[in-house]
Amino acid sequence: MGRLSILSVGLFILPIAVTVGVLVGLETYRVNHGQKSLFPGDQDNAITTQMYCQKEYGITPDPGRYTFNPNQWGVTGADQLNLCMNVSTNDNNTYATDITAPAFTTTWQFPQGPVTEPVHAFPNAKLTVSEIPVTLSNVSSLTLDVEWSYGVGNTAAPNGTVDPTLDAAGLNANVCVDMFLDPVEAQSGLTDKAAYEVMVWLGRWGPATLPIGYAQGVAVILTVADGHSFDLYFGDNSIGQKVFTWVAQSNTTSMNADINPLINELSNHGGPTTTDHLGYVAFGTEALYSLQNVTLSVPRLSMDLVTG
Ligand SMILES: *[C@@H]1O[C@H](CO)[C@@H](O)[C@H](O)[C@H]1NC(C)=O
Ligand SMILES: *[C@@H]1O[C@H](CO)[C@@H](O)[C@H](O)[C@H]1NC(C)=O
Ligand SMILES: *[C@@H]1O[C@H](CO)[C@@H](O)[C@H](O)[C@H]1NC(C)=O
Ligand SMILES: *[C@@H]1O[C@H](CO)[C@@H](O)[C@H](O)[C@H]1NC(C)=O
Ligand SMILES: *[C@@H]1O[C@H](CO)[C@@H](O)[C@H](O)[C@H]1NC(C)=O
Ligand SMILES: *[C@@H]1O[C@H](CO)[C@@H](O)[C@H](O)[C@H]1NC(C)=O
Repeated sequence: MGRLSILSVGLFILPIAVTVGVLVGLETYRVNHGQKSLFPGDQDNAITTQMYCQKEYGITPDPGRYTFNPNQWGVTGADQLNLCMNVSTNDNNTYATDITAPAFTTTWQFPQGPVTEPVHAFPNAKLTVSEIPVTLSNVSSLTLDVEWSYGVGNTAAPNGTVDPTLDAAGLNANVCVDMFLDPVEAQSGLTDKAAYEVMVWLGRWGPATLPIGYAQGVAVILTVADGHSFDLYFGDNSIGQKVFTWVAQSNTTSMNADINPLINELSNHGGPTTTDHLGYVAFGTEALYSLQNVTLSVPRLSMDLVTG
């Protein structure tokens, strides 16, 4: 009798343990994909903010257009990981438009690195759509609609503001769109293999945050459709990639314009041409160093790639 009871209890416990394990796994998957929680208490239209502090793998919340990655690729050796991203997903998986990204913030602090390798991380929202990689001749427009703020501390500065104490906090960073291109389609998305890196800097702080080719001066100035003007610098980086950087003439905390003209201009400066492939498009902040915690907040972001 006694034996039988124990056996029954044992058999009864096992399936529960297995089920709980599966449920926990499933819940983790659902949360990572920005799906509504299985557990009660979550409202259909609530916003869930999840914090991600991993070194460098991305999460892609539904409906799947953007991948968020703390991307602390330059943190090596004795350096400490000290960067987190908060991604705010809508539990109903619908946003202002079909192409709107979940709002995100990133808070970080790193010590100064070597001059040869000053960047610690590029926390970003990467455009993850089936059209990429795309041949440049097939890009009709690439519209960036964004609003951001940067502040000192662990909380978001008010929308669209740049904290005047960022310089005193020793911030060395930019806010930018980062793109990679290559003649070979399969290489165009590989950030360490692609022939070309093209950046559009909307903000820039600190003496270490200079575009490659800064000493050679501005190659050309272009103004995009919404009136923001950008200076072009270019040169080769330490691994032989040709790097083209468009630097906004003032902190551009709000912008809504097609940046494809900035890419097309580069064929006049030894850059990518119509037959090259665009394989990577992401918006984020290149984090060099800072003496205090700083926070980038991106309450509004959409990247609209129109092909054909
Ligand atoms: C989805 O949730 C968001 C965030 O709470 C809300 O603003 C929006 O109205 C909801 N949309 C739909 C279609 O329910
Ligand atoms: C920022 O500073 C606080 C201390 O105020 C610390 O606990 C936190 O981990 C730091 N880093 C990040 C990424 O928030
Ligand atoms: C990010 O999320 C953490 C954990 O919920 C929270 O403590 C922190 O204040 C959030 N950061 C920002 C900038 O909202
Ligand atoms: C942006 O603002 C900071 C002040 O926080 C300033 O140091 C920096 O030069 C500005 N960047 C541009 C491109 O105007
Ligand atoms: C910040 O901007 C977002 C997106 O435009 C908006 O939903 C939010 O209400 C704004 N927050 C404040 C405090 O104005
Ligand atoms: C370029 O666009 C045309 C017309 O939409 C399409 O037929 C073609 O397959 C596209 N080529 C590439 C390489 O994407």
